[in-house]
Amino acid sequence: MLYEESMSGGQAHTTFEKLKICFLLTYLFMTETDREYISLPVDEYVSHHRGRYESLHRKSIEDADEFWNEHASILEWYSKWDRVLDDTKAPFFRWFINGKLNVSYNALDRHVKSHRRNKAAFIWVAESGAEKIVTYHGLLKRVNAFAKALLDAGLKKGDRIAIYLPMIIEAPVVMLAAARIGVAFTLVFSGFGSNSLAERISDCGAKVVVTADGANRGGKLIELKKIVDDAVEQATTVEEVIVVKNTGNKVEMVEGRDYWYHEVTKDQNVFVEPEKMDSNDPLYILYTSGTTGKPKGVVHGNGGYSVWISNTLKWAFNPQEDDRWWCAADIGWVTGHSYIVFAPLLLGLTSIMYEGAINYPEPDRMWEIIEKYGVNLLYTSPTAIRMLMRYGDAYPGKHDLSSLRVLGTVGEPINPAAWHWYFRTIGKSKCPIVDTYWQTETGGFIISPAVDLGIGSLKPGSATFPMPGIDPVILDEEGKEVPVGQKGFIAVRKPWPGLMLGLNNDPERYKAVYFSKYPGKYFNGDYAMKDSDGYYWLLGRSDEVMKVSGHRIGTIEIEDALVSFKEIAEAAVFSKPDVVKGEAIVAFVITRQGFSPGKEMTEKLKKGIRETMGPILVPDEIHYVGSVPKTRSGKIMRRVLKAVYTGQVPGDISTLENEASVDEIKEAIESLRAQTKR
Ligand code: PRX
Repeated sequence: MLYEESMSGGQAHTTFEKLKICFLLTYLFMTETDREYISLPVDEYVSHHRGRYESLHRKSIEDADEFWNEHASILEWYSKWDRVLDDTKAPFFRWFINGKLNVSYNALDRHVKSHRRNKAAFIWVAESGAEKIVTYHGLLKRVNAFAKALLDAGLKKGDRIAIYLPMIIEAPVVMLAAARIGVAFTLVFSGFGSNSLAERISDCGAKVVVTADGANRGGKLIELKKIVDDAVEQATTVEEVIVVKNTGNKVEMVEGRDYWYHEVTKDQNVFVEPEKMDSNDPLYILYTSGTTGKPKGVVHGNGGYSVWISNTLKWAFNPQEDDRWWCAADIGWVTGHSYIVFAPLLLGLTSIMYEGAINYPEPDRMWEIIEKYGVNLLYTSPTAIRMLMRYGDAYPGKHDLSSLRVLGTVGEPINPAAWHWYFRTIGKSKCPIVDTYWQTETGGFIISPAVDLGIGSLKPGSATFPMPGIDPVILDEEGKEVPVGQKGFIAVRKPWPGLMLGLNNDPERYKAVYFSKYPGKYFNGDYAMKDSDGYYWLLGRSDEVMKVSGHRIGTIEIEDALVSFKEIAEAAVFSKPDVVKGEAIVAFVITRQGFSPGKEMTEKLKKGIRETMGPILVPDEIHYVGSVPKTRSGKIMRRVLKAVYTGQVPGDISTLENEASVDEIKEAIESLRAQTKR
């Protein structure tokens, strides 16, 4: 069921628009009683006309050079580019050719020289309730001190480091310090285990790993340093490990390899000259899942990426100078890179950075923080909204949430029920919901309402319209545009500045994954539909990639992890719908001869995956079967498994090698259901 919510009312609307809405309301109420419409009062900061959006979008597509010449001046450049876009080596697009800049200068020094010197860059809040306010000036000092430590460790422009830190201030400090001296970093989500960490360190060739003694989450201690020790045994490129004292738990320090962060940054009064980076030099590498076991190292550059994320944050959320912005993601994902660290700092905003779980110690933790710090712009995930919604309205009801002006979501499609709750209960029916659609590879939002440019009406569950610079199209298998209202594969016809530079060490994979299905167009693996009003609806992944609590996980990563146990011969993994997490992981495994399946084995498999891969990859269910459905060429048909499991018709099974396996799986599932009923 699709609802349309009008962001209408107030002076910003013409009488004609109001009449149109009234007419629509009456008409739709008459035809479908379960449709519901809300008229939103106009907020003083929000223009509800789409006029500015439409002309800006048109210009960005028709005259991209002029458009980006203008919009790249959101940053300060040491020297201007000679050309906006070089597409001669497409699909390796390069932006702002020969333009020179430094991201840490733009994020810090520029503000320190201005009226923002003593403005809070971050209000950091710990799970324990402790808080720390770090001003732009204070952050610059910390960044200089750590940049000096990296130089002292012998690092230079072009080198790489890995960061394995929780949500503490040192994480943005290290990212910016690396950017300052031209060292590319890879920041690995602190929920990944030692094998996942080692694989990423090795692929990017990191010489230094920055970590912490431990992290607090949900009242538990995570021993990060131990995980790094295991990873570094496997990854041979590492010369130094720098450890932040965060929790104070005892850790083993290896002589000559491990150093304390507070010791290497003792001198807080240093200045490190920022490197003049080429626009297309890499800024960071962020690993993400795909359809093969090996994660993809997405490389983002300095110039195009920074231009993209700062403009998109401004367009989508319309932040004001005195606003408090809270992106409640983890810094380990692209959302954290782009919209906790780089974009808000590039725009000179004040961000809340929260270290812990949003429902700990009480389910109203998020609402308490919003009230206490007067958060104006909140950006979180549909999973978080669904989880908090289940606790009921009394928790947000205890808090004054009137500071909120814009509410955002990211990472997965938002279902209308969660949208409505967010809109009514949290936003008190006055805050637009900015459903941002994008990916690690796109750098920043590509389809999203644009509060700054005029959003018109919102439809719950639709990410609305493309950002300026984005030219999407929905195609069928053969590359033909599908008619309006039909589901197809979403692709983008033109490059934009935030698009990754490529995949680390793997140009062929970059071309094959993103540019071979539809030559000349960026294909990103999602299903989508455009409705008759031109709104885009994102309809989930079209490939073997799952979104579990918004985390992107390849089914094959978990299958590889399962078959690495001596007990397991084969594994097939897929996802099932989950009311909170969006999707939950289900595994069907075949044991090797001589091993007996059961509870004990399940525990062992889960524990092993938690340690080596990380808790987010642990399957919710593991089932034991004698065979799994496969094509005659030996490919596991996860589609069939998923259909049987979710009680749907499995579709075409003519290519199956072993049709009997379908019945076997059905039986296994039935017996399982019978057991759970008992
Ligand atoms: O399937 C889409 C889904 O998340 C994928 C990208 O995941 P990742 O690279 O981890 O980045 C997540 C943060 C941007 C997409 O291919 N996705 C992301 N945002 C939305 C979404 N699906 C529907 N609606 C969204 N707003």
